[in-house]
Amino acid sequence: MSADITKYPGENINVEWDGRLCIHIGECSFSEGDLFVGGRDPWCKPDLTSVDDVVDVVKRCPTGAISFQSNDNAVTETADSENRVTVSYQGPYFIRGNLDIDGAVGDMPGVRFRAALCRCGASKNKPFCDNSHEEINFKDYGAIGEKGEALESSDGKLKITQIKDGPIMLNGNVVLQTSSGRVAWSGTKVALCRCGASANKPFCDGSHKTTGFKTEK
Ligand code: FES
Repeated sequence: MSADITKYPGENINVEWDGRLCIHIGECSFSEGDLFVGGRDPWCKPDLTSVDDVVDVVKRCPTGAISFQSNDNAVTETADSENRVTVSYQGPYFIRGNLDIDGAVGDMPGVRFRAALCRCGASKNKPFCDNSHEEINFKDYGAIGEKGEALESSDGKLKITQIKDGPIMLNGNVVLQTSSGRVAWSGTKVALCRCGASANKPFCDGSHKTTGFKTEK
């Protein structure tokens, strides 16, 4: 298990926090109640609330950094009924659904359902966002101009592949949502820019070739 993982055991349910994935959005620490309290040691106390509340709050985490395991396996996380990518304002792709992410390792259970993926090109933890967009002053407001194709359903496995020195490929039913909350695009195959240079964001337009974008994978 990664040294970046901190465990918070409870009588019926355990919570884990993964420092490799957290970009401090704060859905946990801003939640009502006593489950997460900033400055307290330990920060997370699963026994101070119900199992249902633990599940509800953990599933709000948009990066997959927080996950849960119930001690008797009576409760397991299930995917949202729709695969959805939110193109965030000046930030990453927030993806929820039934995810199979190239680059996710075995001790990252949360990213099977929720993840924040780099789209500025600067993350040192690709494919995941590490907040480098703030350092490079990445600018994109998260609008989407294209519509894609109609889908009969938007669930099922969504395979997310890193193309070396290029975009991320999404294969499977998926919808794309603008930063302002409009579901704009749907389809089953799309190449999303992750170099930050496309003139047609969020879609890859081949600009990564002219900018010399390089990735390890
Ligand atoms: S990855 Fe950015 S244009 Fe292709």
